[in-house]
Amino acid sequence: MSGAISIGSFLGHANGGVAKSTSTWITGKIGRKSLTQVPGGTAKISSPLSAPPHVDSGVPRIQLSGRLQQVLTDFKAGGSPCLTNRCGTRVMSETDFITLVGHPPKETRFFGLKNMSGHYKAVVAGLQGYHKALNHEIPKSPKAAVYDAKGMIDSLNDLHKSAKEYIEKHEGNSSDPKAVDAMKTLQEEIKKEIALIKEVAGKANAGQLKGMTWGQALTGANYRLLDTISQHHDGLLDLSKSVESFGAGAANQVSKLVYNTPQGVKETVFKPDPERENSESFRTGTLFFLGINPDKPCYAARNVATAFISESLGLGVAPHCGIALHNGKIGMAMDLAQGKSLQRNVDVPMTAQSLANYTAIGQGSEESLKALNYTNKNGVWVKTETKLEISKIFKGDKEIEANFQKEASKLEWMDAICGQYDRHPGNYLVDVDPVTKQVTITGIDNDFCFGTKPEKVDGKFGQCIGLPQLIDKDTAARLKATDFDRDLAPTLGTLISSDELSAAKSRFTQLQRYALELEENGKVVDNWQTWPGQKGKSVETFLKEEAPKDSSYYTRELMSEKASAHIH
Ligand SMILES: Nc1ncnc2c1ncn2[C@@H]1O[C@H](COP(=O)(O)OP(=O)(O)O)[C@@H](O)[C@H]1O
Ligand SMILES: [Mg+2]
Repeated sequence: MSGAISIGSFLGHANGGVAKSTSTWITGKIGRKSLTQVPGGTAKISSPLSAPPHVDSGVPRIQLSGRLQQVLTDFKAGGSPCLTNRCGTRVMSETDFITLVGHPPKETRFFGLKNMSGHYKAVVAGLQGYHKALNHEIPKSPKAAVYDAKGMIDSLNDLHKSAKEYIEKHEGNSSDPKAVDAMKTLQEEIKKEIALIKEVAGKANAGQLKGMTWGQALTGANYRLLDTISQHHDGLLDLSKSVESFGAGAANQVSKLVYNTPQGVKETVFKPDPERENSESFRTGTLFFLGINPDKPCYAARNVATAFISESLGLGVAPHCGIALHNGKIGMAMDLAQGKSLQRNVDVPMTAQSLANYTAIGQGSEESLKALNYTNKNGVWVKTETKLEISKIFKGDKEIEANFQKEASKLEWMDAICGQYDRHPGNYLVDVDPVTKQVTITGIDNDFCFGTKPEKVDGKFGQCIGLPQLIDKDTAARLKATDFDRDLAPTLGTLISSDELSAAKSRFTQLQRYALELEENGKVVDNWQTWPGQKGKSVETFLKEEAPKDSSYYTRELMSEKASAHIH
């Protein structure tokens, strides 16, 4: 063994450079009515870029949850919102090394006489051993963990030395310049890896990495998300409750991952964060429209940003979103939301007449029917159609219906602020407490938002319904009390690009002004069951009869329900 270092200096380095969590406060300020003279009764917004002024008010401050603060601190320390892009290469595997060299080590023909590839062989064997060691769990005892780390660093130093000797022997006179270059690349990777081991060993010494393998912890450190990932790694999984193929939307397959953490059981939905968007239709469609870079979509950061908006404005309509390492992949671990989507997939069997018609035009073969999205289930051709059911959840109870309208309105406001493109009814879950009649609405799948476009909030796009027609009293107060630059920009700026931040500011400012217009026009709702307090009127009649068609999630879903009523 060579290259031993003193444990003291080793641990001295290991704790350096980790940002400490600071608490983030959203302070309460409120706009002055006299300063907000906006013409009433119109959905047009004047002076979109000038925010209404703020004065101190008694609006209570919101403190972000500790879990969200942790994720935000880690994102900030990592310096890049894109999980995949902030992670450089680690020490390569022996097979990657051989590929880089271009050929495997040569066999020695005459033992003792000619051993040209002795160093190369040593490097390959060293890499093999090192990668095996990465699968070992970090010992629980801090002393043993440090001992392990020291051994790994020693073996990397040995590898570095073999590479150095190879370079010295072959550089300039080698018929194998690729091998020399590969050795140099490996040396750089080793230097970086040693720094990562020191960082991990510092945490292991503090006992923060329970159940992690060295490989997982080093990957976490390399992503600069070690603290977050130490709460969400495969060593903490409850395999009996986790489900690899939990759900699928239009684009992704997600897993349900249940973690046993010291803070209790955490149920999450994991979606790997792609390095680039591979779907051509999303690249040229949604992402182009939203002005999101398809080569760096950074979806996980957009989900974290959405959770931040929900918490900051006290909306409670987006789940907490952490970051996990699962099966070697980095991605978001969103809290499992309670409730169900209003969508239901129904298998509609093909009628004998339809089959005859298809056959008559030469499309009755198995291949043709499959191409037409039919599947054969127990001998019957069926097509999956989506039915929407909303009235069922109200069960004729006006209190539940009012609570739905209120929560759906909060979701509309969050989505308008985030520039959310994709809030179709499959992307939020509804949970009704039959005793208290409380309705919880949770917006999941917050990938397509916070683009540089559109800057204007009064248009419809994708699944966006345009400007919300009503606003809850608490939302209105919170919106007024929030100053974008002071309360939101410092955090959002670490999650989205500066152009995206400008667009978010523009949207936020327009929405603040618009909320004041709603206030002028009596559209701030205190009690969703009794508003507006005139006989024969209600939120329901306003949204159905006075507001533009399709301008709230509530009426949009009621219309879809009507349209899909024929599906059984
Ligand atoms: N936080 C969550 N809680 C509960 N279920 C979820 C959650 N996130 C996703 N799902 C389930 O997984 C499905 C697919 O996830 P989603 O993020 O919508 O993927 P896609 O991007 O493909 O639309 C959802 O339709 C839903 O059934
Ligand atoms: Mg979805």
